[in-house]
Amino acid sequence: MSAVSSRLPVFPWDRLEPYKATAAAHPDGIVDLSVGTPVDPVPALVQRALADAADSPGYPTVWGTPALRDALTGWAERRLGAKGVGHANVLPVVGSKELVAWLPTQLGLGPGDKVAYPRLAYPTYEVGARLAGAEPVVYDEPTELDPTGLKLLWLNSPSNPTGRVLSAEELRRTVAWAREHGVLVLSDECYLELGWETEPVSVLHPDVCGGSFEGIVAVHSLSKRSNLAGYRAAFVAGDAAVLGELLRIRKHGGMMVAAPVQAATVAALGDTAHVTEQRARYARRRAALRSALEGAGFRIEHSEASLYLWATRDEPCWDTVGALAERGILVAPGDFYGVAGDRFVRVAFTATDERVEAAVRRLAR
Ligand SMILES: Cc1ncc(COP(=O)(O)O)c(C=O)c1O
Repeated sequence: MSAVSSRLPVFPWDRLEPYKATAAAHPDGIVDLSVGTPVDPVPALVQRALADAADSPGYPTVWGTPALRDALTGWAERRLGAKGVGHANVLPVVGSKELVAWLPTQLGLGPGDKVAYPRLAYPTYEVGARLAGAEPVVYDEPTELDPTGLKLLWLNSPSNPTGRVLSAEELRRTVAWAREHGVLVLSDECYLELGWETEPVSVLHPDVCGGSFEGIVAVHSLSKRSNLAGYRAAFVAGDAAVLGELLRIRKHGGMMVAAPVQAATVAALGDTAHVTEQRARYARRRAALRSALEGAGFRIEHSEASLYLWATRDEPCWDTVGALAERGILVAPGDFYGVAGDRFVRVAFTATDERVEAAVRRLAR
């Protein structure tokens, strides 16, 4: 038996461990800004919905309860501006990371097929291609890709790690190109509700897709929007033929979302007050860290949305990681997201107010 793990890249976070130890030795403790993991409470109404559904002895369905499907279609229409979203256009999934990692395999991709994603990207797009035995391909401009053998095209707006947002016009051009060449577009929109200087647009918006979901699927997650990373609550929306195929596969293979998590998702998508509250927290932390970084000689590029500041001092990223670790601050080196990021660091503002204030003080010295 060949080891599947041998197809995968080296798990990069292990390389950060010595820097983490240095930062942790700071007398006032580490400020960990390396991972975009929520730290604020799960909204009370979501916790209540989860608890109220705790008595769920039976198997959940793969497609989700009718109430969940209504919540997904309703949210897609209200929040994304998508038109005519029916139950056949939505599918709940266990975490978007899991979806990204296993989608090429579930769609039957393999050797000879290509999966493309941005040159600077969330590493799991590559992992998904490699798990399927498909060929990973990076792009600067998707419409300049060679479409031969290309089966899946990942878009990610707002982007992890850069926070860059693609305009409706850029998305429209890419969708048109992909449709012309029969390439399925997967648009990872898990930071869509976290625009700061611009309003991110979904691939499902009529201005982008022309009112048809043919050949496009949007990926959404409640991890960032609703502090639910621990619940593994996510969903896909778009082309009914693609989602129907995934549903058929998953009926055999499982991967159902837990019933209490389905109920929690309904509650979370039905509420915007907690999203507004959480956005205000992040906006404050982002502003504080941004000016502290700029004051300490950093330049911030893109970063108009998402939970990250993409920062550089025009030096190798590991030098920056080392210097910040000496001040007790841990950030992610840009080369985790592709060699093109090797002079940047990614600074997450998912830390408590108290830890962000500590980072600001340390950067001022
Ligand atoms: C671009 C992108 N997609 C997907 C995910 C995965 O989110 P989750 O699995 O929590 O839904 C992340 C997490 O950081 C991400 O940055």
